Amino acid sequence: MEKKELIYEGKAKKVFATDEPGKVIHEFKDDATAFDGRKRGTVAGKGRANAQMSDIIFRYLDKKGVHTHHIKLLSETEIVTWWLEMFKVEITVRNYAAGSLAKRLGYAERTQMRSPLVEFYYKSDELGDPMLSREHIHELGLATDEELDEIKAIALKVNDILVPYFAARGLTLADFKLEFGLREGRIHLGDEFSPDVCRLWDAETGEIMDKDRFRQDLGRVEETYAEVLRRVKEEETGLRVSIYVSPKKGVLDPAGQAALGALKSLGFGEVSDVQIGKYITLRLEGVEADKAGERVEEMCERLLANPIIEDYRIDVED
Ligand SMILES: Nc1ncnc2c1ncn2[C@@H]1O[C@H](COP(=O)(O)OP(=O)(O)OP(=O)(O)O)[C@@H](O)[C@H]1O
Ligand SMILES: [Mg+2]
Repeated sequence: MEKKELIYEGKAKKVFATDEPGKVIHEFKDDATAFDGRKRGTVAGKGRANAQMSDIIFRYLDKKGVHTHHIKLLSETEIVTWWLEMFKVEITVRNYAAGSLAKRLGYAERTQMRSPLVEFYYKSDELGDPMLSREHIHELGLATDEELDEIKAIALKVNDILVPYFAARGLTLADFKLEFGLREGRIHLGDEFSPDVCRLWDAETGEIMDKDRFRQDLGRVEETYAEVLRRVKEEETGLRVSIYVSPKKGVLDPAGQAALGALKSLGFGEVSDVQIGKYITLRLEGVEADKAGERVEEMCERLLANPIIEDYRIDVED
């Protein structure tokens, strides 16, 4: 693939044409800006960390059924994507109040939202990316109501996928910003996913693990981008396995019987069958997904379940 002319240079990335129709290269820069460009600086290694993190997250979202622009990682700092006709609207999803939202609603920082809160913003540097209502978007002709509905549904799906994804890596996904565009008439997720466009808090210590470290001069900015990438990368090599063990049909299950009797005497007369089993989770390292099932089955046969009296079901989540 050949890198051709620069199409666009933004604050965080350069977008280049390529010799392959419809494909572009995004080069991630170390430049950092905040507060509508009033604060500027560089963060060594940020371009590398963000390109690689975007690659991993977009591949994960693709696997989970989200249509994204992503094609592949080209180098440490470059990704190849489909070119999209971008909507001039950004969408944010917020699980916790932070920054401008905390101010606007008068909430204390880190107040949890009742449910994920969606907002639209105008992609306009001249106007300072103001927040838009659906009516504003309609008036400006930026997207149709149907397109907005779909964009919102995809953004909430991304939230549902990424909240547990980051939780498994010891990070709370407080909020994030997405950008969408059209390719062949279909809405695709574009742009990037990195600590530049989301808020991540260490789940144990509460430490800020995103661009707020730069915005607020908290120090250890480079280390933080590298640490987030490390967590995302490290976990990617593993496979998460769930095993559900339950008593075989027809086998006497004393615990189930006892619970059934107790439930009935508590007035839950509608209960007719209680099975008490166990739920086991484990992680595998260095095992191919197609081999994992076989290995875990062997673990169940030999140790984790009693195959004479118990059934088990294995879920391998890659
Ligand atoms: N698949 C894509 N096809 C075409 N353009 C894209 C695609 N993905 C992202 N973009 C656009 O490329 C640009 C990326 O540059 P960057 O993120 O540095 O911009 P920015 O400075 O944050 O924002 P602005 O767009 O306001 O300049 C953005 O304008 C973004 O909307
Ligand atoms: Mg950007």
